[in-house]
Amino acid sequence: MFDISNYPLPFRRDALEPYVSVRTIDYHYDKHLDTYINNLNKLIAGTKYEYMTLGEIIEESDGSLFNNAAQVFNHNFFFASMKPNGGGIVPKRIADAFGGSDKFKEQFRAAAMSIFGSGWAWLVMDGDEIKITTTANADTPIAHGQKPVLVLDVWEHAYYLDYQNRRGDFIEAFLNHLIDWEWVEKNL
Ligand code: FE2
Repeated sequence: MFDISNYPLPFRRDALEPYVSVRTIDYHYDKHLDTYINNLNKLIAGTKYEYMTLGEIIEESDGSLFNNAAQVFNHNFFFASMKPNGGGIVPKRIADAFGGSDKFKEQFRAAAMSIFGSGWAWLVMDGDEIKITTTANADTPIAHGQKPVLVLDVWEHAYYLDYQNRRGDFIEAFLNHLIDWEWVEKNL
């Protein structure tokens, strides 16, 4: 069985103010993530999935089980992607792959803006190549043989309380104030 205590927030819940409010964290972590974990537990109980790791479930499932398992992975990865006083200068290896820090931010912003409805904007390793990619709904790069490096949640629940419909402002805050680049570099 999975438990939210296995997925602790890597920062205090007021640490990302004013870019992500305590209220958003309360809903996003305590309500949304917890719901995905509870649904996942209900769906695996008494099935062959019961003793699999989260990664194994994601690889071998589809439908509702895949959606809930992938959302647990994606959210844990998203919260880990952030820290207080993050963002800013893009690490050289990533900047170089996109023609500079500003070009990386521009391309990541454009990808995150292009998602119609709910989804995720990612930086992934696809073999040896660093790529910006997006997934819709609960979909996740680990289901496509890619290694996630960084992720931004652009489901409305991630930003609506703080930014309403201004997804672009949330993306800017993420790029310039929230990304934990040291953590990201460890994923390369
Ligand atoms: Fe979310």
